[in-house]
Amino acid sequence: MSHAEDHKASRRDFLYYATAGAGAVTAGAAIWPLINQMNPSADTLAVASIDVDISPVAEGTQLTVKWLGKPVFIRHRTAKEIEEGRAVKLAELPDPLAENDNLPAGSQATDENRTLDKEGKWLVMLGVCTHLGCVPLGNNAGEFDGWFCPCHGSQYDTAGRIRKGPAPRNLQVPVAKFTDAKTIKLG
Ligand code: FES
Repeated sequence: MSHAEDHKASRRDFLYYATAGAGAVTAGAAIWPLINQMNPSADTLAVASIDVDISPVAEGTQLTVKWLGKPVFIRHRTAKEIEEGRAVKLAELPDPLAENDNLPAGSQATDENRTLDKEGKWLVMLGVCTHLGCVPLGNNAGEFDGWFCPCHGSQYDTAGRIRKGPAPRNLQVPVAKFTDAKTIKLG
């Protein structure tokens, strides 16, 4: 295969993955228009930060918002998900780093270092597979009860840490914080 053909094939593959990824956001799709309506500029401009009202996000569910052109998963974890995430030993993790923009570089990928609150109820992370950028399926998907990327089979656990498959890193935790009990600020 010539370089040009190879490039074309990669491009085609990428489009396929991107399409597959777009279909995978269904859980959050219904909520997107509402978020976009509340933050009209968020959809068209790269706004540095947005406030997200998390009061409608029941335990065991996930909200997907678009921020800086990327999906962000905001999951309200169940006690079982927290327990599962905390039971994992660091030695079991392909990526031992927290990949959390709110912590110093090099922080360990403990469950506690992945979540936004001490209790571990709120997990915020980019919904972008660290392999080739698809949007993983959520809601206890895959072998580790977390997220599954159907593109090439990457499996993430209940803390969004890569456990199996080709993705090299845990799902990235972006800069985020609580501004009050019901609001998370991204950026
Ligand atoms: S993009 Fe390849 S496994 Fe997710």
